[in-house]
Amino acid sequence: MSTVAVIPGDGIGPEVMAEVLKVHAVVEDVFGTGLKTEVLPYSADWFLEHGDVEIDIQAIRRDHRAVLLGALGDARIPDNRHAIRVIGGLRQQLELGVNLRPVRLRTLRHCPLKHVNAVEDVDLVIVRENTEDVYVGVGGTVRGGSPGHVAMEVGVHTRWAVDRVVTAAFELARSRRRRLTLVDKSNAMPSAGPLWQGRFRAIAASYPDVECDHLYVDAAAMELIRDPARFDVVVAGNLFGDILSDEASMLAGGLGVAPSASYNPDDTDFAGVFEAVHGSAPDLVGTGRANPLASVMSYSLMLDRLGLRAAHAAVERAVDEVLCGDLLTPDLGGTARTDEVGDLICRAVARHDKD
Ligand code: NAD
Ligand code: IPM
Ligand code: MN
Repeated sequence: MSTVAVIPGDGIGPEVMAEVLKVHAVVEDVFGTGLKTEVLPYSADWFLEHGDVEIDIQAIRRDHRAVLLGALGDARIPDNRHAIRVIGGLRQQLELGVNLRPVRLRTLRHCPLKHVNAVEDVDLVIVRENTEDVYVGVGGTVRGGSPGHVAMEVGVHTRWAVDRVVTAAFELARSRRRRLTLVDKSNAMPSAGPLWQGRFRAIAASYPDVECDHLYVDAAAMELIRDPARFDVVVAGNLFGDILSDEASMLAGGLGVAPSASYNPDDTDFAGVFEAVHGSAPDLVGTGRANPLASVMSYSLMLDRLGLRAAHAAVERAVDEVLCGDLLTPDLGGTARTDEVGDLICRAVARHDKD
């Protein structure tokens, strides 16, 4: 039997994950995927109750085919230690080096840019390296004495990880509009820059059919707004990919509709971790205003990666239908509640046959 681990997490995580589980129940009814879910309790409450304990990430990998993650982040844990344990632990220990963050506009109403006048102009994927850079935990703080407080955060970039994510990005570009943009800051980072640029150029030689492009991250942030249509696939390091993906999400309606998939291209048994780009949104907790679509869309990416094509197609159609309708949460200009949008997705999936 296949199981998927579900970590609802903190804040709105449990609220949006409840909708995903409802959608999954309907998918099971209609498509019989045989995927069971098991809820794991890792959250700020759990950490505060148990203290700072290790999580057996390898056991999660062994016992499950994928992880669905809500969000982790809670003001009671200001150093975010629990989130880093779980999110960083999964990404680094399971070598989930590729993080796909697609952004696709369904209806012009959801794009805030007045100069975007075709939905096709916003259809891009950010491919974020997911294990290295300043996320490796190298660095520290020196206090006291003169000049006082010094903090260091060291970015680590290995050729192995760069090759893996750049290759995944070229493959993805080849399956899409065949255009790949490398984003870095090689003008200010003379160690990381040449590694990324050199490997990008070397790997590009095997993909002569893919048009290559390069932007510094500051200019890329501007170009995403000026001319989103120029982007197909964007590959970036961990930190720049993180920042640009929140920005890019806004082109299609914002964090409420931004899904993500993290996977290890060499691991054929474990599909990966599927989570919304957004966080625990403390400002929305308990209001019923959280948009569940980003998590539903992440669930849909999981179905795709597990090869459950019909179920994936049905959920995608349901999301398209809901996004083009009027029953939307406040982030998309509507007045609907989290559970109403979840119910609508369920009904749309239930209407689809097994084709
Ligand atoms: P956030 O993504 O939680 O929220 C940013 C803004 O987007 C807020 O205004 C919020 O209301 C809105 N928003 C987010 N999700 C939404 C949704 N589903 N529907 C409608 N609006 C939504 O980012 P933040 O406020 O910077 O961080 C809050 C906490 O979440 C922090 O502890 C942070 O570390 C954590 N975080 C966790 C993850 C994760 O678990 N993957 C990701 C990002 C941030
Ligand atoms: C994300 C989040 C995380 C990250 C935080 C919570 C550590 O912003 O998944 O995008 O920076 O990767
Ligand atoms: Mn982020």
